[in-house]
Amino acid sequence: MEEKRILCVGLVCLDIISVVDVFPAEDTDTRCLSQRWQRGGNASNSCTVLSLLGAPCAFMGSLAPGHAADFVLADLRRYAVELTHVVSHPESSFPTSIVISSVSRGTRTILHTNRNLPDVTAQDFEQVDLTQYKWIHWEGRNAAEQVKMIQRVEVHNRACPAHQRVSTSVEVEKSREELYQLFGYGDVVFVSKDVAKDFGFQSAAEAVRGLHTRVRPGATVICAWAEAGADALGPDGELVHSDAFPPETILDTLGAGDTFNAAVILALSRGQRLQEALTFGCEVAGRKCGVHGYDSIV
Ligand code: ADP
Ligand code: FRU
Repeated sequence: MEEKRILCVGLVCLDIISVVDVFPAEDTDTRCLSQRWQRGGNASNSCTVLSLLGAPCAFMGSLAPGHAADFVLADLRRYAVELTHVVSHPESSFPTSIVISSVSRGTRTILHTNRNLPDVTAQDFEQVDLTQYKWIHWEGRNAAEQVKMIQRVEVHNRACPAHQRVSTSVEVEKSREELYQLFGYGDVVFVSKDVAKDFGFQSAAEAVRGLHTRVRPGATVICAWAEAGADALGPDGELVHSDAFPPETILDTLGAGDTFNAAVILALSRGQRLQEALTFGCEVAGRKCGVHGYDSIV
């Protein structure tokens, strides 16, 4: 039987990336090492990684017209990401990010613009045939609408046999109060270092212990912490940790978190244990940090 797909719901944008040795000082005129266009957005990046890891996947998000949109659509097709649920907004502008990627420091500084592109709604999500997917992941954005989407999956799951249920995950990456309602939803909750710090936690272990009370009973909370690796707390209350797998040289950390999420989701969706999934996530994300873009992570 064909493996069911993983659907990622969230942003696709264009990243205009300048690779520099040292981050430029304001009001200077310097030459960068290289420049490129790359499809970006957390959900879209996770789809890239899922595809490269051999997992059938689909993207759901909003699209506005223009050259940037043509570029990202062609790129999504190149990675065989299914695009059935892309919602067009002909009156909106396509979101772009300017990214300065500093090789000497391993940092990526992102300046994004999203002027008027609405996120997909619960009504858009009604069109999704849930039986096609084994896992649906939401990049936390318009949280109130996303809660309704997850509730639709919960209703679906209650009505079907265990082996046909759709697993769910959410990512709470930005420290925005509105997104925190998402903690209460999803089988797996990914929380970023920024959000953890916003809650006053100083490490991934502290964060997953502290935030475990906010997720629903039976859910898993996972926190990645850059070069410190990642920690997770599953339904049985056992704390799980993986060290990071630093590459010989850090070249590009843009999308490391999206890579980590994709690899963890894939491992869990294939029935691996939390420890194995976390280690796999850190391994793949570590490889990603050692290359520009994603193509050589496998
Ligand atoms: P992002 O900032 O893109 O959200 P994170 O900092 O959360 O990413 O890192 C996600 C994962 O990527 C980490 O758990 C780790 O495994 C890997 N990672 C990120 N930065 C590094 C690094 N400097 N060295 C090694 N691994 C890294
Ligand atoms: C990386 C990323 C970039 C994008 C930005 C949007 O995680 O998805 O591709 O420009 O974050 O916040």
